[in-house]
Amino acid sequence: MSLRKRGKTYVGLCPFHAEKTPSFTVSDDRQAFYCFGCGVGGSVFDFLMRVRNLTFAEAAKELADRYGIHLPEAPETPVQKRARELADLLCEVNEAAAAYFHRVLLEDPAAGPARDYLRRRDMGPEIIREFRLGYAPARWDGCRRQLLGKRISLQVAVQAGLLAQKTEGEVYDRFRNRLMFPIRDLAGRVVGFGGRALDETLPKYLNSPESPVFHKGRILYGLPVAREACRKEGEVLVVEGYFDLLALHGRGIRHVVAPLGTALTVQHVRLLARLAPRAVVVFDGDEAGMRAALRSLELFLREKLPARLLKLPDGMDPDDFVGQRGKDAFLQLLAEARPLFEVFLEESLVDYDGSIAGKVRSVRKVAPFLKLVDSRVEQESYLQLLTRRLGVSEEVLRQELGLVGAPETEWGRRHAEKRDDTRVPAMEEVVARILIHYPSGIPLLAEAGILDEFEGQEWRELGRLLEKHYRTGGILDLGGLLVELTSEDLRRRVSSWSLEENPWSEENASLRLREYIEGIKGRKGRRLDDLRRLQHEIRIAEEKRDEARLGELLARKAALVARRVRGKANLTKGEME
Ligand code: CTP
Ligand code: MN
Repeated sequence: MSLRKRGKTYVGLCPFHAEKTPSFTVSDDRQAFYCFGCGVGGSVFDFLMRVRNLTFAEAAKELADRYGIHLPEAPETPVQKRARELADLLCEVNEAAAAYFHRVLLEDPAAGPARDYLRRRDMGPEIIREFRLGYAPARWDGCRRQLLGKRISLQVAVQAGLLAQKTEGEVYDRFRNRLMFPIRDLAGRVVGFGGRALDETLPKYLNSPESPVFHKGRILYGLPVAREACRKEGEVLVVEGYFDLLALHGRGIRHVVAPLGTALTVQHVRLLARLAPRAVVVFDGDEAGMRAALRSLELFLREKLPARLLKLPDGMDPDDFVGQRGKDAFLQLLAEARPLFEVFLEESLVDYDGSIAGKVRSVRKVAPFLKLVDSRVEQESYLQLLTRRLGVSEEVLRQELGLVGAPETEWGRRHAEKRDDTRVPAMEEVVARILIHYPSGIPLLAEAGILDEFEGQEWRELGRLLEKHYRTGGILDLGGLLVELTSEDLRRRVSSWSLEENPWSEENASLRLREYIEGIKGRKGRRLDDLRRLQHEIRIAEEKRDEARLGELLARKAALVARRVRGKANLTKGEME
């Protein structure tokens, strides 16, 4: 990637979306980047995480290694510590079980049928090794004994879902006579398993139950292996099943992941976006597959991840398809895959009957989705497609689209509250934005107690970090702030403000800041009830982990409550006399 210097910043073509004129902006002294084209931005960590598909910890480590910096460990609360230790334990147990299942598959005479099965399904030794496929023997105490022998706590194995519990103290293998697929997270840790029955036992596929490290809605099969390939291909394929993924791998198509028998969730789509800038959904050509693919359309639109749909012939999954027609036929279909949205439009028009009512129905159906289409150019081309198909003028269509209110989709309704929450707080947003441009205002607001009074936890965190990273002389350590800021949305916004042209003159800024100080003081004053105010301060002290202040506040609260109770008691006594 090459950047040109322009004024105080560097600009270049954005690596995260296709563009011809540079809108990707980096500032050395602000230690932030932002793309004014696609809205991606943040700290140097965010950049590395995106470009190289790293987790935050990995990005931090990489930078630290490169510059020989010692990273201070982020302070861990006791609760976080316990959660992390449990997660580590669960992954360790899973790792031990994966090693056991794998060894059984390769060596145990009892695994003969499993090996035959894999051979019949065309799974060679490289795939078996790379994905550490395994076999859970057809007995009740194979895994259990193995873990006992390794002195692993059976209680943890129960929590990991490897063992099931009948009565108190009586535990047995959950996975029996199944082919085992270890499921790994991005960092490569085994977080759970999928197990395919080798006989007629139902369910055909049994997955580990949800655990602190295993959430089907947040994990995809094949992550660590696909990661590198996705980066090379600039694209990620989504298939439905474990065997579909392995069959493609066997033919050198490695930029593939699969959900675990569930519909795609918004977390899945975010995960996909970390793997590659584009996705292809590969689904069975039957109706159910089609419906599933279209249901995911809204998620892709909202997460701004361009997605195409690869439609396989009816009743065939990718495994069947490459088995029968070969790799090249699959690559051919991949090349022809059309944007998911385009397919959705076509599907929406299938039973369009030419009537006026039909026109209205069709427009109403696609309008909420069309509004979510991010790129103007794309939106335009879809409008034209609709114009042609419905025989309505583009102008009428636009009007009609304008008439249909806010996106009325199910996902939209469910998330409406949350979205408004991050969009509305005008006061916090303007104050923070001014302070990014005029850091010398920070002490003023800090002294007035305004930064603590921001509404919404994310904003309060930002307020606190502004104060923390303020250096004498009117300097703000923005890089440091961005690293600590937990909300991705706010990291993005802060980066964009830091790189935008300053919209306020100095007088204007100080005027606005003074207005806000008064405004927020008023808000404070209106909080009449002592107890409610204390409650609010307690919450802030908790967030800050200010133990001393928390103790003091809790004592004050206890005294206040006691006084009230006494007051009431006196009153009752007085009435009795
Ligand atoms: N799946 C699941 N639980 C089930 C059935 C399926 O979790 N009871 C998931 C698995 O991840 C599986 C995928 O859905 O890989 C596809 O399952 P299915 O449609 O049954 O695929 P098949 O092609 O029939 O499976 P196979 O190729 O193993 O016969
Ligand atoms: Mn199959």
